[in-house]
Amino acid sequence: MNSVIRWFEQRPLRLAGFFLVFVSVGLLVFMVLLDIIAGLENPYLGIITYMILPTITAIGLILVPLDSWLQRRRAARGEPVYPVIDLSNPFQRRIAIFFAGTSVLILVVLTVVTYKAIEFMDTTTFCGEVCHKIMRPEFTAYQRSPHASVSCIECHIGPGAPWFVRSKLSGAPQTYHYTVGDYPRPIESPVKALRPSRDTCENCHWPKEFYGSTLETDITYRTDRENTRVVTTMFMRVGSGGVPGSGIHSHMVGEIHYLPAVEKRTEIAWVRVKRADGSMQEFVNPVYRDDLDEIRKKEEVRLMDCIDCHNRAAHDFEPFEEVLDEAITRQEIDPTIPFIKREAIEAVGDIEHIPTEAEQAETVRRIEQVPKFYEEEFPEIYESRRRDVEISVEAIKTTYLETTFPHMRIGPDTYPNWRTHTGCFRCHGVLESASPGGRDPDISGECDLCHTQPIMGEPGELISGM
Ligand code: HEC
Ligand code: HEC
Ligand code: HEC
Ligand code: HEC
Ligand code: HEC
Repeated sequence: MNSVIRWFEQRPLRLAGFFLVFVSVGLLVFMVLLDIIAGLENPYLGIITYMILPTITAIGLILVPLDSWLQRRRAARGEPVYPVIDLSNPFQRRIAIFFAGTSVLILVVLTVVTYKAIEFMDTTTFCGEVCHKIMRPEFTAYQRSPHASVSCIECHIGPGAPWFVRSKLSGAPQTYHYTVGDYPRPIESPVKALRPSRDTCENCHWPKEFYGSTLETDITYRTDRENTRVVTTMFMRVGSGGVPGSGIHSHMVGEIHYLPAVEKRTEIAWVRVKRADGSMQEFVNPVYRDDLDEIRKKEEVRLMDCIDCHNRAAHDFEPFEEVLDEAITRQEIDPTIPFIKREAIEAVGDIEHIPTEAEQAETVRRIEQVPKFYEEEFPEIYESRRRDVEISVEAIKTTYLETTFPHMRIGPDTYPNWRTHTGCFRCHGVLESASPGGRDPDISGECDLCHTQPIMGEPGELISGM
């Protein structure tokens, strides 16, 4: 050991390198063990362990050979001098053994760290919380979605090495833009480079397994004294099972290509359907009939897949009132408190534009005043159920804050959800057959194509009355 210390002491740079490696590898071993045993929940501890510490080790490892190189250059200008390794020299032998031993140790530690680092970068904690200012809106909406336990990367990267490498390559400039703060607000959508859904969604949802209709119930509340519950029920003709002409999912049986009229895909100029029987037909939006050549130069034809309807499967930015109704259904807001929905809606007011941070704070103050209304108008309720009122008002506040994101300039209208009329009526009821003689005169917009007439009433009552 003495000779090793002596060897390091000869050169301060070498010593610094050794010190960095020694300390960082020690800490790495400790942190990785901690992660394996207890799990690192905190995103910043993850960053320190899997990004900062390995960088320090790497710097330390570079310093040792860098020092030898500098030394050689200074010693023999012009003439390269290679160190003579003589293992019969006990001093050199000890140095060599020391290096062989530590190299193996460092290699083992770094292999484990690389593996754990990749695993860490794939977690929802990393994607959703590390640069939380940017991803907070998506992360918030995601936690309310049916995909709340599906990690971001299942849809955004999917399996296999090529897309993994692609995502890490595009991640490097993103890290830079995040650090200097010049990222787009809101983040642009549609995401053009998103992986096709057959490699992501279809790993979990197998299109051939969709059958028949599903009963869709939509629960809302009136703004009256009782917060009366209203249930709207209808059958959605989801269909498919690989069967052409069976309903909504039969878009996935043949092939539908479309040309968006604008980059945001809010309007569609042209569609070509290739049906399962091999027949083809083209449809065109009459508004753009004469501009198709121009549009083709700017926009790309796209093969329709799951994401052209389910673009908001994991992070749907719904309007405040819809999220409020969901919170009442989950009883986070107590519907037995008179007028609680009306008071929430009035405190928040019409959201006509995305509020600034100051406006958002102002609205929060108005929500915090809601208990005053009960104190003045319903003193007996306020006396006996003060805690319930306070819990409900707190939930109204959270709901409001979870639906407007001033920092990223995101509100309910920023990202449309194509799985609603807004999406369907880009083609249905708009595009006509491009040439006479096709099977269909247009892409139909008839009310019973996609669902039955919506009926007000609990599903149980409706079915028993059928
Ligand atoms: C079920 C699949 C799925 C999951 C899980 C998912 N996303 Fe997405 N995400 C999408 C799709 C599809 C789009 C593209 C939307 C479009 O092009 O209109 C998208 C778009 C985005 C965008 C671009 C802006 C926007 O809202 O359109 C961001 C940012 C984003 N996702 C972040 C996340 C984060 C962070 C997570 C995890 C907390 C996550 N996503 C989880 C499917 C998913
Ligand atoms: C890792 C598996 C996984 C992936 C990948 C995945 N999903 Fe899901 N999906 C689920 C699970 C789990 C549910 C919840 C099922 C439930 O609640 O019954 C779900 C639910 C859904 C629902 C039903 C939502 C509802 O309201 O009932 C839709 C629609 C959906 N996914 C579409 C998609 C689309 C589109 C993609 C690709 C962008 C996708 N999924 C990717 C696992 C996945
Ligand atoms: C890009 C254009 C486009 C969009 C967007 C679109 N569709 Fe379609 N849809 C078509 C075309 C094309 C057909 C097939 C017409 C034909 O075969 O002649 C079709 C057919 C259908 C059918 C009849 C299928 C059958 O034969 O049983 C249903 C139901 C349907 N669409 C529902 C929807 C719903 C619901 C949405 C929105 C969530 C939607 N479509 C969005 C283009 C579109
Ligand atoms: C033309 C638009 C469209 C396309 C394309 C589409 N879906 Fe759907 N999907 C819908 C609509 C509309 C519903 C019914 C939603 C509802 O119940 O409110 C639905 C329902 C679902 C459900 C819930 C199943 C159920 O029976 O309730 C899942 C899961 C799903 N889709 C996954 C997918 C996957 C995966 C793909 C791609 C292979 C896909 N969808 C393609 C429009 C579409
Ligand atoms: C191309 C398919 C399609 C056509 C055509 C269509 N709808 Fe819809 N409709 C949908 C989808 C998809 C939804 C969204 C379901 C959801 O929110 O889960 C919807 C939702 C609705 C709702 C809202 C129900 C609720 O959740 O409160 C009403 C009302 C409605 N449609 C009425 C109509 C009427 C009236 C027509 C005829 C003018 C029509 N629809 C034509 C696809 C269609």
